[in-house]
Amino acid sequence: MPNGNHKLQQILDMNQEIEQVRDVDVLLEKVLAVARKLANADAGSIYVVKDEDELEFKHSQNDTLQQELDPGKKLIYNTFTVPINHKSISGYVASTGELLNIPDVYELQNVPYSFDPSYDQRSHYLTRSMLTLPLKNNQNRVIGVMQLINAKNDAGEIVAFAEEDIPLMRIFANNAAMALERAQMTRAIILRMISMAELRDPEETGTHVNRVGAYSSEIYEAWAKRRGIPQLEIDNFKDILRMAAMLHDVGKVGIKDEILQKPGRLNDLEYETMKLHVVMGAKLFLNPQSEFDEIAGQIALNHHERWDGTGYPGHVDPRRNGEPIPGYELANGKARGKKGEEIPIFGRVVAVADVYDALSSKRAYKDPWTEEDVFNELRKGAGKHFDPEIIEAFFTITDVIRSVAQRYSG
Ligand code: C2E
Ligand code: SIN
Ligand code: SIN
Ligand code: SIN
Ligand code: FE
Ligand code: FE
Repeated sequence: MPNGNHKLQQILDMNQEIEQVRDVDVLLEKVLAVARKLANADAGSIYVVKDEDELEFKHSQNDTLQQELDPGKKLIYNTFTVPINHKSISGYVASTGELLNIPDVYELQNVPYSFDPSYDQRSHYLTRSMLTLPLKNNQNRVIGVMQLINAKNDAGEIVAFAEEDIPLMRIFANNAAMALERAQMTRAIILRMISMAELRDPEETGTHVNRVGAYSSEIYEAWAKRRGIPQLEIDNFKDILRMAAMLHDVGKVGIKDEILQKPGRLNDLEYETMKLHVVMGAKLFLNPQSEFDEIAGQIALNHHERWDGTGYPGHVDPRRNGEPIPGYELANGKARGKKGEEIPIFGRVVAVADVYDALSSKRAYKDPWTEEDVFNELRKGAGKHFDPEIIEAFFTITDVIRSVAQRYSG
């Protein structure tokens, strides 16, 4: 067990790292991982308050169940909601704002809340000790709940959570809550940017962009792991990508509704107009202030390039209204398409995520395809439309992709 000072140092280091995380999902994964390490907890979950009266189960980690999976596989769990009332442990903590340190959830007596054993039955896991902390913002409002499960002693036996660890865990939970609130605001601002444009009906837009963001960061991670890219670099780009990819079509703001929302196929002229969305999007990020802006611009510009060089807009300069870069003009006055690794990596990744989602979804101009047809289309496109290595990576994580689809459906 690390001593107190060592733990304090860990918390300070972590707080610094958490400050830098922009994306809600990435943030919560990190918070949970560090809290579990500090408390030596085998498992844990985070719930986020939704619509004032419900907790949404958001993130779950479990070393025991993880070890039963093949290396590199991720634990799949479904999201669900819990009412905020005194009946459940997480609901009790959210409604009272009090922390609960329970040595054995199967031995609860004379308390209003109870443990629901169906969690354990579903996951084939035995929960014993549980430390449940409220995540409170600056105004002392509960915005989430963190639940740490099964503390282990040095011999690996399940024990109760140590009372002496609790003051530090409280500090950590408070700081995590403030970072969570900031990350939620950033995501809300980006979603507002997108829906202000009223690209489609707001519901579809929000879920499409959320899915493309989440698919992109998962696909990138799978690709980068196979390439042996260091985990710290992967985490940094995953975080940026999660939101930068949400902005891939932000340039559609500049496309007329008659074209954007046309119920049928576009004619050639309309399609040429539609293609301008990539340069219009890139223009929003011409003066990058951060790595985030740079990557968002890269994605907006490059997500319709194709591996074989037949995509658009090709080697153009967004500063000069999408004119071809000198030396890259074709006889027809257009720019030569970017080919293979000329296409920036995040453009190649989002291309796969975007087409996967477009084919799987209903659009004004098409019905959803079956999963089998979508998968065949992606396989057929490897080496033509898509980077074949990214397609290979995609097919190693179809279970994760499906769980993202479930999380952001409808
Ligand atoms: P989107 O709906 O987000 O589609 C993104 C990409 O998914 C498309 O890029 C294309 O590569 C792929 N995709 C979508 N639907 C199909 C399909 O039915 N078959 C195949 N093989 N691929 C498909 P693309 O072609 O560059 O289109 C960019 C955007 O232009 C689309 O974004 C959509 O907003 C619009 N668009 C394209 N075609 C049509 C159309 O026929 N009618 C309408 N109303 N909009 C269209
Ligand atoms: C967007 O929301 O950015 C575009 C929506 C779409 O491609 O369907
Ligand atoms: C579309 O126009 O719907 C996309 C067709 C393509 O893959 O180019
Ligand atoms: C990267 O790792 O960011 C670039 C690698 C590539 O473009 O293939
Ligand atoms: Fe697009
Ligand atoms: Fe799209």
